[in-house]
Amino acid sequence: MRTVSTKSAICEAHSKLILVGEHAVVYGKPAIAIPFPLKVRVIIQKAVGPIMFESSIYTGPIDKIPAKMEGIKACIEETLRYANQPFENLRIRIDSDIPLGRGLGSSAAIAIAIVRSLFSLFEQKLSKEHLFSLVQIAETYAHGKPSGIDTVAEISEHPIWFQKEKEIVPLTIGRPLYIVVADTGRNGDTHTAVDNVRKRYASETAKVQNSLDEIARIVELAREAILNGDIYLLGDLLYRNQEELKILGVSDDELNHLIDIARNEGALGAKLTGGGLGGCMLALGKSLEHAEVIAKRLMDSGASNVWYFSTEENILYSPK
Ligand code: MEV
Repeated sequence: MRTVSTKSAICEAHSKLILVGEHAVVYGKPAIAIPFPLKVRVIIQKAVGPIMFESSIYTGPIDKIPAKMEGIKACIEETLRYANQPFENLRIRIDSDIPLGRGLGSSAAIAIAIVRSLFSLFEQKLSKEHLFSLVQIAETYAHGKPSGIDTVAEISEHPIWFQKEKEIVPLTIGRPLYIVVADTGRNGDTHTAVDNVRKRYASETAKVQNSLDEIARIVELAREAILNGDIYLLGDLLYRNQEELKILGVSDDELNHLIDIARNEGALGAKLTGGGLGGCMLALGKSLEHAEVIAKRLMDSGASNVWYFSTEENILYSPK
């Protein structure tokens, strides 16, 4: 067994926004995701005894971990097996700014920060590919059959073009994007949303296939719009993507309401982001000042939390 000199390790991970293409990406279509500056930090210390957790979701020994965190447990087990370390003698503290289950990729971010911390604690090298496969263990529990976009987007520091089993392409943004994100305050259920689309695909194949193909076209055009800095075209594509997500049955009244509010404030585009059925929506402003105006309106219209930022500086603001 390796001798371990390090006594504690601290690592972080950021969340993500799917700009266009969620759900269709599960069927092999492309999608575009960008880093979102909400973060999770994980501190792991060596401490004799069973593995202990400390977090806002659960505090206690790992063998009593709640069902919704089973994936994290499986991911830790596999990581320790790989690192040739016993499944004990650790205290894991999770400190997260990312609201859980809101389509912002909290589950993948927690798993990324844990795996990074474990490798750092045991002073072992971790490749991006290996990090991806360990985190996907947790993601499979959380989302059923995830496409992998959440994990890849959160490992990356840049906007990405993602397509299952294809090379990940980092994207250059031709002109800064001013993005507002509003939380409905209700847990989105990605697992159920993905299942619903699958059932709908089985019963209304032609209609759903048509939507998936249209989303793929939208994503292709969005890539050009992003590269060329054409924020007006990008905005229009966000609205079009939202219409297809409605057809897939993953939007809901509250998301639609917040999207309408953003449109009335002159947002260039708006749509749900992530799994849907609750969770978050995003809107595109013309400037940081315009993003702030939209953010304030969303906050006054019932959103439980709102953030806005520019992709240029990556600093997160909240409306006053
Ligand atoms: C969830 O953030 C994105 C979905 O497309 C599911 C997935 O890709 O695994 C809804």
